[in-house]
Amino acid sequence: MTNIIYSDFNNKEFYSIKNYFMENTTTYTMPRIGDKAPDFSAVTTIGNLKFSEYNKGSWVILFSHPADFTPVCTTEMSGFANEKDFFAKHNTKLMGLSIDSIHAHIAWVNAVNEKTGVLFEFPIIADLDMSVAKLYGMLQPGESETAAVRAVFIIDPEGKVRLIMYYPLNIGRNMEEIKRTLIALQTSDENKVAMPLNWQPGDKVIVPAPKTLEALAERKNSNLEMVDWYLAKKSL
Ligand code: BEZ
Repeated sequence: MTNIIYSDFNNKEFYSIKNYFMENTTTYTMPRIGDKAPDFSAVTTIGNLKFSEYNKGSWVILFSHPADFTPVCTTEMSGFANEKDFFAKHNTKLMGLSIDSIHAHIAWVNAVNEKTGVLFEFPIIADLDMSVAKLYGMLQPGESETAAVRAVFIIDPEGKVRLIMYYPLNIGRNMEEIKRTLIALQTSDENKVAMPLNWQPGDKVIVPAPKTLEALAERKNSNLEMVDWYLAKKSL
């Protein structure tokens, strides 16, 4: 197919077509794990916020949802609101986002509160110009040109992106997994260990593999639970 297209045009025509497509293609950025979380200022349901200020001294879970007044989003936002004490206990602030106006956000938060008694106290960004959604790769045009996908960014107190999840519009996220990964990251940082498959708080953790022969000899004489020299676990 490609050969047919190329052979049908001379070089000049080919490059003018290529330039047309390049000029008309929007490039969206997407932070990666380990990157500094891109900073921004935004209008939110608790007032104007600068992300780097909000992030100072605490973990932040920045998450997007497709739209206000939609069923899956209502269950998810309620799930985050219901875990207020958990996130506070783990020094973690929440920040939601959708491509809606501040008035839509306020009306939706109020409606959910009146109907169910659940109050979304965390800030929700009104990202009508899509600037934050584009900055964080939350707008994925193959899924929707106008609504953010369900993204989750776990950002540490140093402002580094530590974990990313992306879900499509029609699938709600798993709150237990969000909580599990937050605890796993914090436990890993505090103890310089790694977490095995399906790790849950209280389970044994993986001790880094030895990097010298002396460390290997020490490990052989240790009382770690050892599958092999490079795979050893301990209780915290
Ligand atoms: C929802 O939250 O229910 C939803 C939003 C956008 C597309 C599909 C579902």
